[in-house]
Amino acid sequence: AILTQDELKKIAAYKAVEFVQSGMVLGLGTGSKAKHAVTRIGELLHQGKLTNIIGIPTSKMTHELASSVGIPLSDLDSHPIVDLAIDGADEVDPYMNLVKGRGGSLLREKMIEGACKKFVVIVDESKLVEHIGGSGLAMPVEIVPFCWKFTVERLRLLFDEAGCVARLRMDRESGEPFVTDNKNYIIDLYFEQDIGDLMVASDAILRLPGVVEHGMFLGMATTLIVAGGLGVRVKNK
Ligand code: A5P
Repeated sequence: AILTQDELKKIAAYKAVEFVQSGMVLGLGTGSKAKHAVTRIGELLHQGKLTNIIGIPTSKMTHELASSVGIPLSDLDSHPIVDLAIDGADEVDPYMNLVKGRGGSLLREKMIEGACKKFVVIVDESKLVEHIGGSGLAMPVEIVPFCWKFTVERLRLLFDEAGCVARLRMDRESGEPFVTDNKNYIIDLYFEQDIGDLMVASDAILRLPGVVEHGMFLGMATTLIVAGGLGVRVKNK
Protein backbone atom coordinates (compact mmCIF):
# COMPACT_ATOMS: atom_id res chain seq x y z
CA ALA A 1 0.00 0.00 0.00
CA ILE A 2 1.14 3.56 -0.65
CA LEU A 3 1.62 5.55 2.54
CA THR A 4 0.03 8.96 2.97
CA GLN A 5 2.16 11.99 3.83
CA ASP A 6 0.87 11.87 7.36
CA GLU A 7 1.70 8.18 7.80
CA LEU A 8 5.22 8.84 6.51
CA LYS A 9 5.62 11.72 8.98
CA LYS A 10 4.47 9.42 11.74
CA ILE A 11 6.94 6.66 10.84
CA ALA A 12 9.78 9.20 10.79
CA ALA A 13 8.66 10.67 14.12
CA TYR A 14 8.48 7.21 15.72
CA LYS A 15 12.00 6.54 14.45
CA ALA A 16 13.18 9.73 16.16
CA VAL A 17 11.51 8.69 19.40
CA GLU A 18 13.61 5.49 19.37
CA PHE A 19 16.49 7.74 20.50
CA VAL A 20 14.60 8.63 23.68
CA GLN A 21 15.58 6.82 26.88
CA SER A 22 14.04 6.85 30.33
CA GLY A 23 15.38 9.60 32.58
CA MET A 24 16.07 12.05 29.76
CA VAL A 25 15.39 15.76 29.65
CA LEU A 26 13.83 16.29 26.21
CA GLY A 27 13.47 19.31 23.97
CA LEU A 28 10.02 19.03 22.38
CA GLY A 29 9.80 20.62 18.93
CA THR A 30 7.02 22.42 17.11
CA GLY A 31 5.27 21.53 13.86
CA SER A 32 3.55 18.58 12.26
CA LYS A 33 6.44 16.11 12.65
CA ALA A 34 7.29 17.10 16.20
CA LYS A 35 3.61 16.74 17.03
CA HIS A 36 3.71 13.04 16.17
CA ALA A 37 6.88 12.63 18.25
CA VAL A 38 5.37 14.36 21.30
CA THR A 39 2.21 12.27 21.06
CA ARG A 40 4.29 9.09 20.78
CA ILE A 41 6.37 10.01 23.86
CA GLY A 42 3.14 10.53 25.80
CA GLU A 43 1.94 7.12 24.66
CA LEU A 44 5.16 5.37 25.74
CA LEU A 45 5.01 7.10 29.13
CA HIS A 46 1.45 5.96 29.53
CA GLN A 47 2.39 2.36 28.68
CA GLY A 48 5.27 2.50 31.18
CA LYS A 49 7.81 1.88 28.41
CA LEU A 50 9.42 5.23 29.22
CA THR A 51 9.76 6.66 32.72
CA ASN A 52 11.22 9.79 34.30
CA ILE A 53 10.98 11.98 31.24
CA ILE A 54 11.04 15.75 31.54
CA GLY A 55 9.91 17.72 28.50
CA ILE A 56 10.98 21.25 27.61
CA PRO A 57 8.48 22.59 25.06
CA THR A 58 9.72 24.90 22.29
CA SER A 59 6.41 26.77 21.90
CA LYS A 60 3.14 27.48 23.64
CA MET A 61 1.45 25.14 21.19
CA THR A 62 3.75 22.26 22.07
CA HIS A 63 3.38 23.09 25.75
CA GLU A 64 -0.35 22.51 25.44
CA LEU A 65 -0.01 19.33 23.41
CA ALA A 66 2.69 17.85 25.67
CA SER A 67 0.72 18.51 28.84
CA SER A 68 -2.44 17.07 27.24
CA VAL A 69 -0.61 13.78 26.52
CA GLY A 70 0.80 13.64 30.05
CA ILE A 71 4.47 14.58 29.64
CA PRO A 72 5.88 16.26 32.80
CA LEU A 73 7.20 19.66 31.73
CA SER A 74 9.90 22.05 32.85
CA ASP A 75 12.05 24.83 31.38
CA LEU A 76 15.67 25.78 30.70
CA ASP A 77 15.94 27.75 33.95
CA SER A 78 15.41 24.53 35.92
CA HIS A 79 17.01 22.19 33.35
CA PRO A 80 19.77 24.04 31.49
CA ILE A 81 21.16 20.84 29.98
CA VAL A 82 18.90 18.99 27.56
CA ASP A 83 19.77 15.40 26.63
CA LEU A 84 17.95 15.23 23.34
CA ALA A 85 15.70 17.41 21.23
CA ILE A 86 13.38 16.30 18.43
CA ASP A 87 12.02 18.79 15.91
CA GLY A 88 11.14 19.35 12.27
CA ALA A 89 12.74 21.88 9.89
CA ASP A 90 11.77 23.88 6.83
CA GLU A 91 15.03 23.40 4.92
CA VAL A 92 18.06 21.16 5.43
CA ASP A 93 21.32 21.44 3.47
CA PRO A 94 23.88 18.62 2.94
CA TYR A 95 25.77 19.76 6.08
CA MET A 96 22.60 19.53 8.17
CA ASN A 97 22.29 23.29 8.51
CA LEU A 98 18.62 24.16 8.90
CA VAL A 99 16.08 26.87 8.28
CA LYS A 100 13.33 26.90 10.88
CA GLY A 101 10.55 29.18 11.96
CA ARG A 102 8.13 29.10 9.05
CA GLY A 103 5.56 27.85 11.53
CA GLY A 104 6.28 30.91 13.66
CA SER A 105 8.39 29.48 16.46
CA LEU A 106 12.15 29.84 16.33
CA LEU A 107 13.49 31.70 19.36
CA ARG A 108 12.47 29.11 21.95
CA GLU A 109 13.48 26.37 19.54
CA LYS A 110 16.95 27.84 19.14
CA MET A 111 17.48 28.37 22.87
CA ILE A 112 16.40 24.85 23.75
CA GLU A 113 17.96 23.04 20.80
CA GLY A 114 21.16 25.01 21.34
CA ALA A 115 21.31 23.56 24.86
CA CYS A 116 20.91 19.93 23.87
CA LYS A 117 23.55 17.22 23.54
CA LYS A 118 21.78 15.51 20.68
CA PHE A 119 19.41 17.12 18.18
CA VAL A 120 17.33 14.83 15.98
CA VAL A 121 15.64 16.54 13.03
CA ILE A 122 12.73 14.98 11.14
CA VAL A 123 11.93 16.09 7.60
CA ASP A 124 10.38 14.82 4.41
CA GLU A 125 12.43 14.79 1.21
CA SER A 126 10.90 18.05 -0.01
CA LYS A 127 12.84 19.92 2.72
CA LEU A 128 16.25 18.86 1.42
CA VAL A 129 18.04 21.72 -0.38
CA GLU A 130 21.50 22.28 -1.86
CA HIS A 131 21.81 25.82 -0.42
CA ILE A 132 19.95 27.32 2.49
CA GLY A 133 18.02 30.45 1.56
CA GLY A 134 18.21 29.58 -2.11
CA SER A 135 14.89 27.83 -2.37
CA GLY A 136 12.89 30.99 -2.94
CA LEU A 137 11.09 30.29 0.34
CA ALA A 138 11.05 32.42 3.45
CA MET A 139 14.00 32.82 5.81
CA PRO A 140 12.35 34.02 9.03
CA VAL A 141 13.88 36.62 11.35
CA GLU A 142 12.30 37.47 14.70
CA ILE A 143 12.45 41.18 15.54
CA VAL A 144 11.06 43.44 18.24
CA PRO A 145 7.89 45.30 17.17
CA PHE A 146 9.41 48.71 18.04
CA CYS A 147 9.97 50.61 14.77
CA TRP A 148 9.78 47.40 12.78
CA LYS A 149 9.81 49.21 9.43
CA PHE A 150 13.25 50.56 10.25
CA THR A 151 14.53 47.06 11.06
CA VAL A 152 12.94 45.57 7.93
CA GLU A 153 14.78 48.07 5.76
CA ARG A 154 18.08 47.41 7.55
CA LEU A 155 17.59 43.67 6.99
CA ARG A 156 16.75 44.14 3.33
CA LEU A 157 19.79 46.36 2.77
CA LEU A 158 22.03 43.76 4.33
CA PHE A 159 21.18 41.39 1.47
CA ASP A 160 20.63 43.98 -1.25
CA GLU A 161 23.13 42.25 -3.53
CA ALA A 162 21.30 38.95 -3.19
CA GLY A 163 18.09 40.63 -4.39
CA CYS A 164 16.44 40.41 -1.00
CA VAL A 165 12.76 41.11 -0.43
CA ALA A 166 11.72 41.49 3.22
CA ARG A 167 8.12 41.15 4.36
CA LEU A 168 6.42 41.49 7.70
CA ARG A 169 4.56 38.24 8.39
CA MET A 170 0.82 38.74 8.80
CA ASP A 171 -1.69 36.68 10.71
CA ARG A 172 -4.08 35.38 8.06
CA GLU A 173 -7.09 35.32 10.34
CA SER A 174 -6.82 38.70 12.05
CA GLY A 175 -5.10 40.60 9.25
CA GLU A 176 -2.76 42.00 11.93
CA PRO A 177 0.99 41.32 12.16
CA PHE A 178 1.75 37.78 13.30
CA VAL A 179 2.92 37.82 16.93
CA THR A 180 5.34 35.17 18.25
CA ASP A 181 5.22 33.40 21.63
CA ASN A 182 7.62 36.05 22.90
CA LYS A 183 5.47 38.89 21.59
CA ASN A 184 7.75 39.75 18.71
CA TYR A 185 7.22 40.09 14.95
CA ILE A 186 8.58 37.92 12.15
CA ILE A 187 10.18 39.25 9.00
CA ASP A 188 10.39 36.80 6.11
CA LEU A 189 13.40 37.29 3.88
CA TYR A 190 13.35 36.06 0.27
CA PHE A 191 16.49 35.96 -1.84
CA GLU A 192 16.89 36.03 -5.59
CA GLN A 193 20.48 34.85 -5.32
CA ASP A 194 22.63 32.78 -3.04
CA ILE A 195 23.44 34.58 0.23
CA GLY A 196 26.96 33.15 0.38
CA ASP A 197 28.64 32.21 3.65
CA LEU A 198 25.90 31.35 6.14
CA MET A 199 27.96 32.19 9.23
CA VAL A 200 28.71 35.64 7.83
CA ALA A 201 25.02 36.14 7.04
CA SER A 202 24.06 34.94 10.51
CA ASP A 203 26.48 37.30 12.27
CA ALA A 204 25.36 40.25 10.16
CA ILE A 205 21.69 39.66 10.97
CA LEU A 206 22.34 39.22 14.69
CA ARG A 207 24.39 42.44 14.83
CA LEU A 208 21.37 44.55 13.84
CA PRO A 209 19.73 46.20 16.84
CA GLY A 210 16.07 45.19 16.87
CA VAL A 211 16.79 41.65 15.71
CA VAL A 212 16.07 39.00 18.31
CA GLU A 213 17.01 35.82 16.43
CA HIS A 214 16.91 34.26 12.98
CA GLY A 215 15.81 30.89 11.62
CA MET A 216 19.20 29.57 10.44
CA PHE A 217 20.24 26.73 12.75
CA LEU A 218 23.86 26.22 11.77
CA GLY A 219 25.83 23.18 12.90
CA MET A 220 23.23 22.26 15.51
CA ALA A 221 21.56 19.10 14.18
CA THR A 222 23.32 15.82 14.99
CA THR A 223 20.92 13.33 13.39
CA LEU A 224 18.63 13.67 10.41
CA ILE A 225 15.63 11.46 9.73
CA VAL A 226 14.28 11.75 6.21
CA ALA A 227 10.90 10.37 5.25
CA GLY A 228 10.69 9.60 1.55
CA GLY A 229 8.62 7.53 -0.82
CA LEU A 230 10.84 4.50 -0.22
CA GLY A 231 10.78 4.72 3.56
CA VAL A 232 12.79 6.39 6.28
CA ARG A 233 16.53 7.13 6.15
CA VAL A 234 18.69 8.05 9.16
CA LYS A 235 21.80 10.16 8.68
CA ASN A 236 24.26 10.95 11.46
CA LYS A 237 26.76 13.74 11.53
C1 A5P B 1 8.30 25.99 13.51
O1 A5P B 1 8.33 27.34 13.44
C2 A5P B 1 9.34 25.41 12.61
O2 A5P B 1 10.61 25.67 13.04
C3 A5P B 1 9.06 23.94 12.41
O3 A5P B 1 9.98 23.15 13.05
C4 A5P B 1 9.03 23.73 10.97
O4 A5P B 1 8.09 24.60 10.38
C5 A5P B 1 8.75 22.29 10.58
O5 A5P B 1 7.40 21.97 10.59
P1 A5P B 1 6.86 20.62 9.97
O6 A5P B 1 7.38 19.49 10.81
O7 A5P B 1 5.37 20.77 10.06
O8 A5P B 1 7.37 20.55 8.57
